[in-house]
Amino acid sequence: MTTNLTVRPPRFGMGTANLDDDGTTWLPPAQLARALLARFRAPDYRPPVLPAEAVELLALARQPNVAYASILTLLERDPLLAARVLQRAQSAAYASRGSIQSLRDALVRLGLTTLTGIFLETAMNLRVFRAPGYEAPMAQLQAHSAATAHICRIVCRRTAICDEYAFLCGLLHDVGLAAMMLSLADRPRGAPLPDFEQVWPGLREAHEEASAMLCRLWRLPPDIELALSCHHSGRLDGHLHPLGSAIALAERLAARLGRGFRDEAQADESHLLEVLGIAPRVGLEILDEARGALATLDA
Ligand SMILES: [Fe+2]
Ligand SMILES: [Fe+2]
Repeated sequence: MTTNLTVRPPRFGMGTANLDDDGTTWLPPAQLARALLARFRAPDYRPPVLPAEAVELLALARQPNVAYASILTLLERDPLLAARVLQRAQSAAYASRGSIQSLRDALVRLGLTTLTGIFLETAMNLRVFRAPGYEAPMAQLQAHSAATAHICRIVCRRTAICDEYAFLCGLLHDVGLAAMMLSLADRPRGAPLPDFEQVWPGLREAHEEASAMLCRLWRLPPDIELALSCHHSGRLDGHLHPLGSAIALAERLAARLGRGFRDEAQADESHLLEVLGIAPRVGLEILDEARGALATLDA
């Protein structure tokens, strides 16, 4: 029998809501989507923890003339994270920007927005893309999010959209999926974990809104929230949303290059190119460049 939300004490990843009475019956997709979104809206829901430093960096990255010293203090606040960020900045994906020995070098050579992207990617890999029992879909989602971010940056270089900002949005676009997996995985002792294939249709239905809700809960800039809320259609209230369309195109290309996530990328590629003002010939160049970028990511 399926009834809805039962109240449980607040813990990480949980607000109210157990999705069924006996732990064995799962809701049909539309109901599951509604129940998960209700869980995210509950006052006692606690989203996965995004380090405060990442949120502060995102805010700093939007300000002109920020002092290097204050950025470095922020970057170094969590030594483990700082070490991982430096390691990533030294990887093949950023090697073309010159030798990087320290976070200060990384800041000088890569710039604040790129470094913020690396910081956010590292923080999410450590703290968000982890749900016991859902390791395989989480790993696939992590790879898909990274690929979409890198391709979104390449796409936006052909538009007037800031490419580094697009990278951040690409990285975050499916964060609602990660949060829903975390929420489902955080269940009462002994309760079975629902099979991912069984819950996927419900997650797919809810995830754009869930990603936008996460942005709100993390107090990220409202324009990121809007872009994430329409990252499949690229349209918001009937109007074209350029950044949302760029993410939709990036994830479509990611899927073509083997980094899709299930069957979520269904937007029409030629239409997305057209609304972004990108000629089909340039679209092919983007695909080539994206292929090269993903190969470098794997190096
Ligand atoms: Fe996606
Ligand atoms: Fe998505």
